[in-house]
Amino acid sequence: MDSWEKLKSECLACRACGLCETRNNVVFGVGPEDAEVLFIGEGPGEQEDLKGEPFVGRGGKLLDDMLELIYLDRTRVYIANMVKCRPPKNRDPLPAEQEACAGWLQRQLALMQPKLIVCLGRISAMKFIKPDFKITREHGQWFDVDGRRVMALYHPAALLRDPGKRPETFDDLKRLQAEIRAVCTHTY
Ligand code: URA
Ligand code: SF4
Repeated sequence: MDSWEKLKSECLACRACGLCETRNNVVFGVGPEDAEVLFIGEGPGEQEDLKGEPFVGRGGKLLDDMLELIYLDRTRVYIANMVKCRPPKNRDPLPAEQEACAGWLQRQLALMQPKLIVCLGRISAMKFIKPDFKITREHGQWFDVDGRRVMALYHPAALLRDPGKRPETFDDLKRLQAEIRAVCTHTY
């Protein structure tokens, strides 16, 4: 039987891909182990690598503000990434690195059994929704993937680069809030 304790200790010691050579910390993920909503980003950046926590830089502050708009915070949702160690100079994670790392998040998913998944950005959406996901057209839409509701939001870094996308993201967050009210059983 898998357990969070076993999973976390194994993951923090992982050397399954080359990113282990340059990381300062494995960024395992944060949030309640029985979260009903799981946010999945791409991979840790510089601040995340230094602190061992996902989304703690400028994008992270924006993510916190986004959550607050629908009365959520990090004590109520789980936040993780597709790869758990920082790619050097924030390059995109290589397919081989994504593959090597995928099992950790799969085990987190199996233990958590979230009702809803929110992909942060296109790369995560291509992995967890469909390979040809088009973020400009399909952000904020709900998809059924393996019996679970999944949507994508613009990545906080994209919203920092292009604040013009924020009104659409506010609408997407309202759709997330509505779905949480419809399917989640914890009180929010
Ligand atoms: N971008 C991500 O995708 N994840 C983080 O944790 C930080 C920045
Ligand atoms: Fe292991 Fe993932 Fe880190 Fe690679 S990125 S060393 S697979 S935890």
